[in-house]
Amino acid sequence: MRRPLIAGNWKMHFTVPEGLEYALRLRHDLEAFATLVELVILPPAVMLWEIANALRGCPVEVGAQNASWEDQGPFTGEISPKMLAGWCHHLLIGHSERRQLFNETDEQLNRKLQAAFRHNLKVILALGETLEEHDLGRTEEVITRQLSAALYGIDVKRAIDLTLAYEPVWAIGTGRAATPEYADETMGMIRNLLAGKFGQLASEIRILYGGSVNPANARSLMEKPEIDGALVGGASLKAADFTAIVQATAEVVQSARA
Ligand code: PGA
Repeated sequence: MRRPLIAGNWKMHFTVPEGLEYALRLRHDLEAFATLVELVILPPAVMLWEIANALRGCPVEVGAQNASWEDQGPFTGEISPKMLAGWCHHLLIGHSERRQLFNETDEQLNRKLQAAFRHNLKVILALGETLEEHDLGRTEEVITRQLSAALYGIDVKRAIDLTLAYEPVWAIGTGRAATPEYADETMGMIRNLLAGKFGQLASEIRILYGGSVNPANARSLMEKPEIDGALVGGASLKAADFTAIVQATAEVVQSARA
């Protein structure tokens, strides 16, 4: 079993003081699970540095929700992977909200991935099909395109710094999570694609599920062999819910070891 990772994507929520207070609460609540589950929170950029400092030395790691492919320059409003390097552990790339609302393309995501690896960030690369693509039976085709475009030219040695997040767009923020069976099957297909690119190393790359993960469905999702954790949106904004998801994951790890 790969060591699961649970990442909380805060999106555009909380003021800076609220975010800091919330991060400290999570540090307290989650520390007990850190030997079994890798823990990441993705706060908005404006509070990232403050929270990274507050969590220094603690097993809950921080990541950015987005960054440019450039290191510096006239790119008003952007932050760069160079700015994150050395203190921010992770970077989320390719979330469907970035793809859909901000028109990010597969080619841009490839450049972002290359830039992030150049600065030794660990990357969570999100991908998944829309409802229309799903209903037209195009899921495999869409994911194959997203993955091969994003990974174009990426060195096999970088596989260890890569985590994928399979997020069917129709499941994000809708309360309608994919069934564990559907997610497991699609993620198995994704792992086959990874094997084509990275060979043996594909078996070490974690694939998270994202889309309406909550305390009630977390366990049944995490029990599936291809599901190596979760990218959690809405339920990551409440300490009790996020902690319950982490706890359910830790229990799955424990029962797998028993
Ligand atoms: P959700 O969001 O858990 O609110 O569905 C998941 C995500 O957008 O990563």
